[in-house]
Amino acid sequence: MRLQKYLAHAGVASRRASEQIVADGRVTVDGEVVHDPATDVGPGDDVRVDGRSVTPVSDTVVYALNKPAGVVSTAKDTHRRETVVELVPADGRRLYPVGRLDAETTGLILLTDDGELADLLTHPRYEVQKVYIAEVAGGPVGHDTVDALRSGVQLDDGPTLPAGVERMNERMLRITLREGRKRQVRRMCEAVGHPVVSLRRVKLGPLDVGSLRPGQWRLLEASEIEALRAAPVRTGADRD
Ligand code: URA
Repeated sequence: MRLQKYLAHAGVASRRASEQIVADGRVTVDGEVVHDPATDVGPGDDVRVDGRSVTPVSDTVVYALNKPAGVVSTAKDTHRRETVVELVPADGRRLYPVGRLDAETTGLILLTDDGELADLLTHPRYEVQKVYIAEVAGGPVGHDTVDALRSGVQLDDGPTLPAGVERMNERMLRITLREGRKRQVRRMCEAVGHPVVSLRRVKLGPLDVGSLRPGQWRLLEASEIEALRAAPVRTGADRD
């Protein structure tokens, strides 16, 4: 990234003012005074203004989106349905969704151009928590059903890991998963005789969907991205 843009992104001054600051010889890169505002700098460079270190900026972005129903969470859809990527301003970046939600599922999904972060949040090894609110059919959900969902149910691709399950009322469940198999919540509920009527993801790792309404998005702040990076704490090997 050009030095002038780097300084502006780091909040030192506007781009034009940053250009002047560089021209005045007030900026060093890795200990050398530079006079060219177009000098290429990156996160690994030690950039200083008047001897004071400028916090390196991340060149990647993370959007939180409340996915509406009917929108697919792939980057491109072969059936030309609307995709989550089309709902946020890409600004020339190649964004892709972090994990998947079914077309009919609503709620929190992240979009980023940071491949490493996407891997941290989706790789099964890291067991990042995802919280869903499921409205189910099949009559009042009994406590034995809740216990069965908690301890793990048999699906056609194997048993599920222990899950957090709270009964919010007779037909609403709050389900916390540490895995992310295809249509997992729907298949789990179906397996215990309570097909899902509607499904919403409200939390991913430490991040809550908050007050975002369906279709709304916001850019995450650096502290929120750091908290997401810290989310993958357990590995399959650690599990007891
Ligand atoms: N489980 C599901 O069944 N669907 C989703 O979209 C996410 C989790």
